[in-house]
Amino acid sequence: MNNSDFFALSFNSGYLTFLDQTKLPGIEDYVQTDDYERIAVGIERLEIRGAPAIGIAAAYALALAVKNKTVGIEEDFDKAYSRIARTRPTAVNLFYALGVIKTSFESLSDKSKAYDVLLNKAKEIHSDDIDKCRKISENGLAVFNKKSRVLTHCNAGMLATGGMGTAVGVIAYAFEKGMVEKVYADETRPLFQGSRLTAFELDKLGIPFSIQIDSAAAVLMQKGLVDLVITGADRIAANGDSANKIGTYNLAVLCNYHKIPFYIAAPTSTIDTGTETGAGIKVEERSKDEITRINNSLITKEHFNVFSPAFDVTPNELITGIITEEKLHYPPYKF
Ligand code: MRU
Repeated sequence: MNNSDFFALSFNSGYLTFLDQTKLPGIEDYVQTDDYERIAVGIERLEIRGAPAIGIAAAYALALAVKNKTVGIEEDFDKAYSRIARTRPTAVNLFYALGVIKTSFESLSDKSKAYDVLLNKAKEIHSDDIDKCRKISENGLAVFNKKSRVLTHCNAGMLATGGMGTAVGVIAYAFEKGMVEKVYADETRPLFQGSRLTAFELDKLGIPFSIQIDSAAAVLMQKGLVDLVITGADRIAANGDSANKIGTYNLAVLCNYHKIPFYIAAPTSTIDTGTETGAGIKVEERSKDEITRINNSLITKEHFNVFSPAFDVTPNELITGIITEEKLHYPPYKF
């Protein structure tokens, strides 16, 4: 299934290589680095993005922070931990991965072995995610009861994970099984993760698709052209309320009105049982430039005020089911 000729993240010979997603789909440019600061900046700029991929990159970054370090290794580790934790606040996978690496570092009596041990942990997080994506995709097949037209938002595919993706992974697996007729990919304003990234992946996978502006989803549903909606998530609260790319909540409301099933696909590392409801999820606000400019070119007035939340939270009662690597969860959600 994963016969793609690109990858989001790969670690070899002491360096992380990542595909700069800001240049896709036109340019496939890989960045190779062993500098955790470069990885932190890559996460902030969305060169590396998508909740699971952010977590994996963060784990490698924290391991790299102690590469070739002997004196003052604890201080270096703490400094890198705080820096990477500040990159993006919503995707809980970031904090999950940093937590795993921190626990591993703290349990080491001989810190001279830190780099090797932490790197192995990061590799484990990466390969676990590959497995989880595959299982999510398999578990997701149950949501298709006929050859379907599926709408998705943002990018929850190979670019956003270590493996074949979550929402796009489910779609790709179901396509292989003959259960997907076509995909509608929301363009996903403001940074076009749908029209640039999901479209890039679907094209490579040979899955029929079209892209539409986000506000065309309503009319597609009204015309009876959408059988189900599947998206990813950045953080799922203990009650199932789910944060995902801004515009996801709109889709869930539309699905409710049009009686269309609305599913979330995510690994358990995206579930934050420490946060009771969506009200407790911190939503990142992005720079106004992402709204006022396209390709650096000003499309409105510089001094206009902007409201730019990167995510919204869909209440659990609008979610038909949550597909994880463990199973397909139905309401009332208990993880
Ligand atoms: O701002 P982004 O591009 O990182 O937002 C990504 C999303 O909203 C994805 O849907 C989510 O992280 C799930 S990725 C498997």
